[in-house]
Amino acid sequence: MNPRHFISLLDLSGDELRGLIRRAIELKNHRDPDYQPLKGRVLAMIFEKSSTRTRISFEAGMGHFGGSALFLSPRDTQLGRGEPLRDSAKVISSMVDCIMLRTDKHGTVTTFAEHSSVPVINGLTDEQHPCQLLADMQTYFELRGDIQGKTVAWIGDGNNMCHSYIHAAMRLGFALNIACPAGYRPSPAIVDEAGECVRFFDTALAAAKDADLVVTDVWASMGQEEEQKLREVAFKGYQVNASIMQKAKSDALFMHCLPAHRGEEVSGEVIDGLQSVVFQEAENRLHAQKALLEFLICKK
Ligand code: CP
Ligand code: NVA
Repeated sequence: MNPRHFISLLDLSGDELRGLIRRAIELKNHRDPDYQPLKGRVLAMIFEKSSTRTRISFEAGMGHFGGSALFLSPRDTQLGRGEPLRDSAKVISSMVDCIMLRTDKHGTVTTFAEHSSVPVINGLTDEQHPCQLLADMQTYFELRGDIQGKTVAWIGDGNNMCHSYIHAAMRLGFALNIACPAGYRPSPAIVDEAGECVRFFDTALAAAKDADLVVTDVWASMGQEEEQKLREVAFKGYQVNASIMQKAKSDALFMHCLPAHRGEEVSGEVIDGLQSVVFQEAENRLHAQKALLEFLICKK
């Protein structure tokens, strides 16, 4: 039987997603050190790009569940010397129980999954970051209840995080207001698929109006460091600051996947202010991914 993968949020139904969020909250609130459903199981983690949260949360999660995690980088494996992805996927999946990849090209993860005999998890690509959305949605549900029917404002780059927010809007039934500078909009293919749950606005202020949640991300993602100066000019006017938050509902939350650049995409007073839940969001990477690992590895 083909394994179940988690390459995109769209790999889960809305019910499955809500089930995972509920389970993540349960695991967080009732930690039982004797519950070790992944005893003896191994997660391989392949990182082509840097990470703090993703690496630590997966490694700690496997440890809590009695399993272990292997950190692999292309520099230290034959992946970096050109061994074909399909061969690597067959070999690695013959030895471990699950594989997480953080890669530059989204196609690397999909090709890997095609040839893997165990579940493959997308730990971020240039196109999507679905694990982060599990944590973001868990955080919203914990603080405000179900997000169905709410309004989320995405301000800034139409990047991997924005794409996964579009997928979350499709699966969980919220409206996504997007404000991006010209030339930095999300992929038309992903937007087209979303239909009416996505709306574009010309300014950040307009997108934030009456939002229940305001979200942003860095202006230059990993691999775009050379565009930093150009992007600082293009994204002027797209900083989430107090005037943007004033347009949102008075009880609106602020989220950012981190790492953040204070003074660029978000002002210090917002990210360190009372509406910001970024550290709860970061911690929830651990709980949400434990629920995901249990779902993918234990459920047959
Ligand atoms: N948010 C996130 O994915 O963080 P890391 O890059 O530190 O893993
Ligand atoms: N958009 C960012 C997210 C980092 C977690 C990046 O891809 O670098």
